[in-house]
Amino acid sequence: MDALPHLIVIATFLVAGLIMVASAAPTTTEKVKAAHYEAVDFSKLLGMKGLSDTMLNNHFKLYQGYVKNTNLLLDKLSEMESDGADPVYAELKRRFAFEFDGTRLHELYFGNLGGKRSLEQKSELAERIERDFGSFDAWKKDFIAVGSMRGVGWAILYEDPGTGRLMNFWIAEHQNNHPAGCLPILVMDVWEHAYMTDYQLDRKSYIQAFWDNIDWGKVQSRYLQVVK
Ligand SMILES: [Fe+2]
Repeated sequence: MDALPHLIVIATFLVAGLIMVASAAPTTTEKVKAAHYEAVDFSKLLGMKGLSDTMLNNHFKLYQGYVKNTNLLLDKLSEMESDGADPVYAELKRRFAFEFDGTRLHELYFGNLGGKRSLEQKSELAERIERDFGSFDAWKKDFIAVGSMRGVGWAILYEDPGTGRLMNFWIAEHQNNHPAGCLPILVMDVWEHAYMTDYQLDRKSYIQAFWDNIDWGKVQSRYLQVVK
């Protein structure tokens, strides 16, 4: 007869436990919020020759805007439920690629600036460039030609892991024309905000200033990371 109170206590705990588990699990309308991205501090780049601090500080602010909007869209999209037919969902999803790639490409761009030395001629990257383009100068000429194309976008040296081949690509805006599965080695911003403050419409002089400030040690280390 003494077992009945014990059974009631055990049953009470089991029911309470089930209620706690049920309340902790996200429902279909309470989705878990995605982790946020944090803007990287690139102020160590200030003082570079040929790229003024005014232009760089403005560029940092634009980059921080991409990070902010990436996080904003992550939150908005995580709160939405859609079968894809909803045009608001579809446009926000498309916009997310713009903001995310804008964030990531600026980090790669600022990340390959701030250097003072040339690429070592005996480095693995220099040897691969020579193999794929005939010479370093031939590759440089093509990379600059890509960066000189009309329109806003990026010139990027990509490595194709499938073949090991290096290729220069034009990226329109931030999100269009990326080669699937390839990895970025050298990234150059040729949106007008990257040069107009210092060079007005003279993109050629900006590209020269970019070239003079490439951190080849960083570029070479990216290459080594992707070919491991
Ligand atoms: Fe930019």
